[in-house]
Amino acid sequence: MNNFLVNNLSEIRKDFSITKKKIYLNNGSIAPMSLSTIKSITDFLFRYSEEGPDSVSISSFIENIKSELRLRISHLINCLPEEVIFTQSTTEGVNYVANGMDWKKNDGIILRGGTHEHYANYLPWLYVSHRKKIKIHELNIDQNGFFDFSDLESILAKQNRIKLISLSHALYNNGSIMPINQVGKIARENNVLLFVDAAQSVGSIKVDVKEMGCDILAFPAFKWICGPLGIGILYCNNRIKDLIRPLFVGGESATYEKNKLVLNKCPERFQAGYRNYPGIVGMETAARYLLRIGIDNIRSHHLRLSKLFKQELERIQSIKLHCVENENEKTSIVSFSSNKIDSKLIVDKLYANGIILAERNIFDKTIVRSSPHFYNSEEEIIQTCNSIKKILN
Ligand SMILES: Cc1ncc(COP(=O)(O)O)c(C=O)c1O
Repeated sequence: MNNFLVNNLSEIRKDFSITKKKIYLNNGSIAPMSLSTIKSITDFLFRYSEEGPDSVSISSFIENIKSELRLRISHLINCLPEEVIFTQSTTEGVNYVANGMDWKKNDGIILRGGTHEHYANYLPWLYVSHRKKIKIHELNIDQNGFFDFSDLESILAKQNRIKLISLSHALYNNGSIMPINQVGKIARENNVLLFVDAAQSVGSIKVDVKEMGCDILAFPAFKWICGPLGIGILYCNNRIKDLIRPLFVGGESATYEKNKLVLNKCPERFQAGYRNYPGIVGMETAARYLLRIGIDNIRSHHLRLSKLFKQELERIQSIKLHCVENENEKTSIVSFSSNKIDSKLIVDKLYANGIILAERNIFDKTIVRSSPHFYNSEEEIIQTCNSIKKILN
């Protein structure tokens, strides 16, 4: 087992001040930022205000940091820097695609059991399907959120107007990792686009858009990258960029030449007006921090924490786990419920003890979700399980 994080954990935990006050196991919602990320944002805001927001030095700093962030993201997900578009969030990325594609009546989209997807990757498709009269085909899913390839292949064989498949890479409620590479292969064979909601995967597990065979992918800074709110990324493969029309047009994204509006090339074409520069600065520092630790080290630590948590919970009689058994098919997320006490009450009681988990739904069941990250320790997991035992007794 890779011990990089165990050996460096005390130093890393100093960078996350939340560790002095709480046990924070809710990184699948919003992760805290490291001190260096917070400092990079405040340093930028001071510099910006002292040197002049529109000064030559700040403009060139912004241009430089935008390129740096694109480079970091290109390393993180294995794409080209010019394929990296700055958005506000995953939701904005999904909406860029849902509303920017040139849909024709009766075109089709395949989703993975709609109501089991995060609403961010369901409602935008539903909305566009109503407006453009396109059809949504939902894959049947099992209790852990997985589907059969035969189901996917049968829809593709029967429906010749499918334009896109959209899936979460990892599920927000139980951490199941979808077999994206195989879906990418099937999508390519059928000449269908693959959109991936990577909100729960980038920064947590390896994401390689080439291996996945995905065309478009969206994620935020504020979850597993430990960056700020209000900034996210839409990856759009160069090959298909012309299939998506920008939702907004304005300065920075287009020009007006000889009585003609001309869209700029990618990624600028999708970035009308000024962007969230403090967010870009923070995300760049956070991505650099993450890359320094390394996704393989993060993944090993996640597996260690998840395995320990599951082992400890399995010793408690009234607890039922709601996640896939095979650790390789899940992220660090562990979901559970008790037949003794309501999940919401467990979350509230843990919160009162300074332990932060989340309450989520799996089908119609409310469960407790733990989502530890690289700065969390095994001691925190044990302490959390001891608190759960006390609450249930
Ligand atoms: C799988 C998934 N998709 C999308 C979202 C929404 O992300 P954002 O707030 O960046 O739009 C979340 C947030 O929890 C999520 O877990």
